[in-house]
Amino acid sequence: MKVTCLVDNAVQTRSTLWGEHGLAFLIEAEGRRVLFDTGASGAVLVHNLLEVKTLPDSITAVALSHAHYDHTGGLSVFLELRPRLPLYAHPDLLRERFSRREEDTRSVGLRLTEPSLRSLADLHLNAAPQEILPGVWTTGEIAERPEPEGRSPHHCVRDGEGWAPDPYRDDIALVLDSPAGLVLVCGCCHAGLLNTLAHVQRTFGRDPAAILGGAHLGAADQAHLRRLIETLRLLGPPALLLNHCTGLTAHLALAFALDEHIQPCPAGTVLEF
Ligand SMILES: [Fe+2]
Ligand SMILES: [Fe+2]
Repeated sequence: MKVTCLVDNAVQTRSTLWGEHGLAFLIEAEGRRVLFDTGASGAVLVHNLLEVKTLPDSITAVALSHAHYDHTGGLSVFLELRPRLPLYAHPDLLRERFSRREEDTRSVGLRLTEPSLRSLADLHLNAAPQEILPGVWTTGEIAERPEPEGRSPHHCVRDGEGWAPDPYRDDIALVLDSPAGLVLVCGCCHAGLLNTLAHVQRTFGRDPAAILGGAHLGAADQAHLRRLIETLRLLGPPALLLNHCTGLTAHLALAFALDEHIQPCPAGTVLEF
């Protein structure tokens, strides 16, 4: 299996790929390709697909980690190039999302309406795990969350006349059953990395040999980071290729504790499993 980081906040040195605050991965298994997330703008996704010599026509399916614009903003541009593609996500993808700072309220969810999304793609919205290709699964909803979530205090949803914290029920990841073991590919991991790891063990019966993507650990305190490091040590530790929203403090703590198990994963990174 081959995984390419197509869009990230950072880009490999000397790469011709473009960067933006967003995330997208290209997953190739047995000659078929899945796009996981679409970055924020569409322009970066399309440019980077061309740079890695991948025609939109060659992609078999798209999966979305959650509704936030930095993962779904390129979707409409992509679906115009590749209409009627099977699209895998959690049903809560369609719920409106907002970011509120004092009285400044911004919509940060999916920019497509439900009817336009249904006209552009073949929707597979399910809270249970879904098999996209042989060996390429969505995690399904990470329902049990005893550990802290990857939460931003600004993220919210409408609640009657008021607002409530975003429950992030749509937050899912992908699990790749590769010859090198399970590979966990996260979007923002708003469900929390520890909760996601426990869900993967319960659902797939094994722990990941590698973890990729955004881990949203910016708000994690020292106790949380210590528990995460301890858990990762017990799991091997797996190879960690965290990027996007992981956060510098968490990155440094993980790098200091887990040393050679940490690798960078900017746009342009190509991995074989
Ligand atoms: Fe994100
Ligand atoms: Fe997010």
